[in-house]
Amino acid sequence: MPTPQPADAASTFPPPAVVEQRDGLDRAPHETARGVDLWRFVKKLQTGRTLSEDEWTALIEGRTPDLADRLFAQARAARDEAYGRAVYLRGLIELTNFCKNDCLYCGIRKSNRQARRYRMSVDEVLACCTQGYAQGLRTFVLQGGEDPWFAQDKIVAMVRSIRRQHPDCAITLSLGEWPHDAYAAFRAAGADRFLLRHETADDGHYAMLHPTSMSPDRRKTCLFDLRRLGYQVGSGFMVGSPGQTARHLARDLAFLKELNPHMIGIGPFVPHRHTAFRDEPAGSADLTLFLIGCLRLMLPRALIPATTALNSVDAQGRMRGLAAGANVLMPNLTPPQYRGSYDLYNGKATSGLEGVENIARLRRQLEEAGYQVPLARGDSAVAVERA
Ligand code: 5AD
Repeated sequence: MPTPQPADAASTFPPPAVVEQRDGLDRAPHETARGVDLWRFVKKLQTGRTLSEDEWTALIEGRTPDLADRLFAQARAARDEAYGRAVYLRGLIELTNFCKNDCLYCGIRKSNRQARRYRMSVDEVLACCTQGYAQGLRTFVLQGGEDPWFAQDKIVAMVRSIRRQHPDCAITLSLGEWPHDAYAAFRAAGADRFLLRHETADDGHYAMLHPTSMSPDRRKTCLFDLRRLGYQVGSGFMVGSPGQTARHLARDLAFLKELNPHMIGIGPFVPHRHTAFRDEPAGSADLTLFLIGCLRLMLPRALIPATTALNSVDAQGRMRGLAAGANVLMPNLTPPQYRGSYDLYNGKATSGLEGVENIARLRRQLEEAGYQVPLARGDSAVAVERA
């Protein structure tokens, strides 16, 4: 099968009107009729918790602002039933931006010679955890590029140290693809959760976004390995990545239904100036929000963050994400001198309420909006597999 070209494929979705409008939704004259028609898919989703690929595609393509608002009300109710009004905070530590991979969309891809590379020491990571703990965080997310320096034994030792220092905290790893035995070793050392986005569930689309050395099957195998090892597993995808169609998104939703992850992170694709996708349009906040609502109804017990990428394309992204059914935020715990270098896409938010230094303000804003911010690990309500 020929690999689709970004330029052609990007023009198919979202349609130009979708990205140019503030709300990212196609306000066609017949929108009300379509909206009413599609409401039955939302109801079906609510009762049956799934849709066919054709139904998902129709729902995504035909969505209207009014339909989105009604979806969000149902999604909030589903979230509140599963988790109440709790919003869980995770401290994000971006420990290295060295990466052996070359994902075409990513600012820290290995062939970006302009990236200023850094790697934190284990002592620096531990200091971040201590700081985060003092700020009331009870989950630490260790995220990084696939950096060969962080070999299996180094990660095992780091996880052990954090586990020893913070026995009451959850340790989440977001460190890419590893063999089954490495995942098992991290788990034995004390890691509880692992984040690994599938990025796109469609093989042809995956090949458009990644070099041939990367395999969508291997990625999916990793996800199922993690689940069998008893991790709480997070997956997800980018919204509006080059060449993405509504049908691709339908496949993403179907794949997530099959995986049944504990956590789902999605965010808009945002171009990075030093990648081949520099001139591609960003994914829309509105479509991202719509999909958060869909995910909440499909997998009501999943933990769903309002991501940094969403907040980077929409100043209200955080609160709009929560209003669409999300229930997790990930304040940035990375030391300020490194934060700007973990540069995945243009305009990535690193300051303001995104940073752990403003966590008190973030809590206040959440509480004023009627949410609670528990001092707790915030484990997933989805059952963990018995290893
Ligand atoms: N735009 C949006 N998200 C991106 N990611 C990487 N590059 C970009 C980009 N240009 C996301 C990927 C990855 C996560 C850590 O960041 O989905 O899994």
